[in-house]
Parts: sequence; C-alpha cells; structure tokens
Amino acid sequence: MTGDGERAFTQTLERDQRVEPRDWMPDGYRRTMIRQIAQHAHSEIIGMQPEGEWITRAPTLRRKAILLAKVQDEAGHGLYLYSAAETLGADRGDLTRRLIEGRQKYSSIFNYPTLTFADVGVIGWLVDGAAICNQVPLCRSSFGPYARAMIRICKEESFHQRQGYELLMTMMTGTPAQRETVQDAVNRWWWPSLMMFGPPDADSPNTAQSMAWKIKRHTNDELRQRFVDMTVPQAQALGVTLPDGELAWNAERGHYDFGAPDWAEFKRVLAGDGPMNARRIAHRRRADADGAWVREAAAAHAAKQSRAAGQ
Ligand code: 3HC
Repeated sequence: MTGDGERAFTQTLERDQRVEPRDWMPDGYRRTMIRQIAQHAHSEIIGMQPEGEWITRAPTLRRKAILLAKVQDEAGHGLYLYSAAETLGADRGDLTRRLIEGRQKYSSIFNYPTLTFADVGVIGWLVDGAAICNQVPLCRSSFGPYARAMIRICKEESFHQRQGYELLMTMMTGTPAQRETVQDAVNRWWWPSLMMFGPPDADSPNTAQSMAWKIKRHTNDELRQRFVDMTVPQAQALGVTLPDGELAWNAERGHYDFGAPDWAEFKRVLAGDGPMNARRIAHRRRADADGAWVREAAAAHAAKQSRAAGQ
C-alpha cells in the first residue's frame, strides 16, 4: 500500500523537484545516495595526492600557487560532499574507515602515478574535464544537498580544467622534449580518464535504478561519448594525438567513434591492483591517524562548550 511519503517522493521526482534530507525516501535511495556521495568525496580527498606530490616541485612560483589552490579546492569538495552524506545519516568517521578498509571505492583514476609535471596539466585537462562532464548533470541530481554541492564544485572544476590546458599549451610551445613529455602523459592518462565514467552501461548494476531515481541524468556511456566529442577538438588544438587508432568522426552518428578501454585493467584497479592503490590508501590511513588528536581535541572542546552552555 503506497503511503503518503512514497506518494510525495514519487511526485517530487515526477516534477523534477529535489528530495531534501527530512523528506521520506526509499531505503534504497538513501543507501545509493550515501554510496555515491561517499565515493565522490573519497575521490576528491584521494585525488589530492597525485598532484600534491608536485607542489614542492612546481617549475615556477605561479605554477606552485595554482597547484596549491587546486589541491586545496579538492579538499573543500571532499568536505562539502561528506557534509552532504551526513544529511542522510552517514557518519564521516565511518565513511573514512570504509574507505581505508577498502569497503568503499574512490575513482580508479587516482591509482595511476604522476611521473612528470606534464601529468599535472593532463590531469587538469582530461581528469577534471571528465569530472566536469560527469558532474554538470549531477547539478540536476534529485537529492538537494548533492545537487547544490555540485553547483559550486563545477565552478571550481572549470578553473582546474582551464589551468591544466593552459599549462599544456605552454609546454607545447616549448622544446621538442617538452612536447614529447606532454604526449607521453596524454598516452598514459587517456584510457584511465575514459574509465572514470564507469563500466559500459550493459555492465553497470546501478545505472538503471539511479536513472529512475534521477540521481544520474545520463548513463555512463552517454557521458563517456560526450567527453570524447568534447576532447578531440581540444587535443587537435593542443597538437597532441589521442592514443586510440579507432578514433574517427562518424557523420552519421554525429559523434566520434572510439575504441574500448581495457575493462580487465579497470576491474583490476577497482579490485585494488592498480599501480598506486596501496600507496594512496597507506597515505590516507597515515593522515587519518595523524589527525586523530585534532578530532579528539575538537570533540573535547565541543563537549566542554555544551556543558558550559547547559550550566
Ligand atoms: N572508479 C571506481 N569505482 C567505479 C568507477 C570508477 N571510475 N566507475 C564505477 N565504479 C564502481 C561503482 O561505484 C560501482 O561499485 P559499487 O556498487 O561498489 O559502488 C560499480 O563500479 C559499478 O558501476 P556503476 O556504473 O553501476 O556505478 P554508479 O551508478 O555509481 O556509477 C559513477 C559510477 C559514474 C562513478 C557514479 O558513481 C558517479 O557519477 N559518481 C559521482 C562522480 C564521481 O564520483 N566522480 C569521481 C571523480 S571525482 C574527481 O574526479 C575529482 C576531480 O576534482 C578531479
């Protein structure tokens, strides 16, 4: 028997309105939102590591300042998103433990190494570009706090993407060695960037329900295609080659045809067997342990404040 809450929830979705934390929602919707928001938050926090490794090695003060700002932005994105997850009853400490213990995922892309400074530019251009493709539709996600967090995050991501592309443009007008360094980074990051959009729709256990609940507005393959269509002209303008022999404009479809990512590699990375998985989690575990005293002190102070207020 459909209760008032369920009727209201269905009506909210039908009207393209937003579900708010205090609204009735199916348990499955709550679980899916916590899962997706937590993974998104984990990805932002883990995503600080690959580029963070280059802050002390940036070639100029300007590049260092830009990279500092970007990495700080990622931390802020993580905090917004953990706060959005908390509106659903999740506990931030529990989510961190799930991440560290491998019971929750973060984006596969951050399990690849950043070997040269060109990687910083390619991450901005391709990884943040893919994130923008994925996150702009999430500004219309049905869960209010998540959609609102996306609006601000997307504004900052566009700065991330532009600074990366500008960095690469600078290197491409440099020496042949610099141009080769950029091409090498593009070769290493192209396919992992396509994997950011998730498995093919046919292998996605969550997409159908997430589309029905208007959490997702497009499928994994739709967004992957949108990203390829957007990126090919940018690669041409940059003067780099995307490492896909099947890439070709299909006038009939009005899209670029492209090859398939190595889904066996994708599955290996998700299972923890990527080049940098162990290092990323060890770093996060250490940071969590190092920060325990701060959390304990803040909790003790808050308890003291509430005792004083109660007296
Ligand atoms: N990395 C890690 N796990 C992935 C993944 C990826 N690239 N793609 C899919 N998965 C996981 C899913 O989480 C799911 O596992 P789970 O059920 O245990 O959670 C499984 O693979 C099946 O995938 P589905 O497509 O069925 O799962 P979803 O419907 O959740 O779709 C998603 C996956 C498209 C990544 C979706 O979760 C999403 O849009 N998330 C929000 C955006 C996001 O997380 N982006 C990550 C990058 S953040 C970032 O880039 C920071 C920026 O500053 C650079």
